[in-house]
Amino acid sequence: MKRVLFVCLGNICRSPTAEGVLRGLVERRGLADEIEIDSAGTGSWHVGEGADARMRRAAEARGYRLESRARQVQAADLERFDLVLAMDRDNLADLEALNGGPRPNLRLFSDFLPAGSPPDVPDPYYGGEAGFDRVIDLIETGSPAILAALLELRGASR
Ligand code: 4NP
Repeated sequence: MKRVLFVCLGNICRSPTAEGVLRGLVERRGLADEIEIDSAGTGSWHVGEGADARMRRAAEARGYRLESRARQVQAADLERFDLVLAMDRDNLADLEALNGGPRPNLRLFSDFLPAGSPPDVPDPYYGGEAGFDRVIDLIETGSPAILAALLELRGASR
């Protein structure tokens, strides 16, 4: 079993979408028993809430159901998950502070985007509709490379 945790600020927009899109990919490939996917937020404001309604609508339009409940990331998560992917550089800085410094399994989501892509998946919370679609575009682009990295980790531990 390999485990990936997506982390954003609120855990109601970007990271639940990354969780939902990768889950869709993993299920279509028949890998649901081999890859564990979760998401969390660096902040606690929205703990217990479902994904933002605007984000859910945009995701459903592309065939993804977002069913997670928001939770705050814990130091123990950094040990438990093989990959912890921050959606933007602020999220990564907060994760490194939680850990007391960098660690190899803490990475940026954008590390899995094509060269020349922006470093951050922009926070859509205070913006318009287009921001939510942009989030999904970036996440759909990066997800196959993330799955490949997880499968490689799995192979390496056999
Ligand atoms: P997320 O978006 O980090 O992608 O879940 C946000 C959600 C809520 C807030 C900020 C960003 N907020 O300030 O409440």
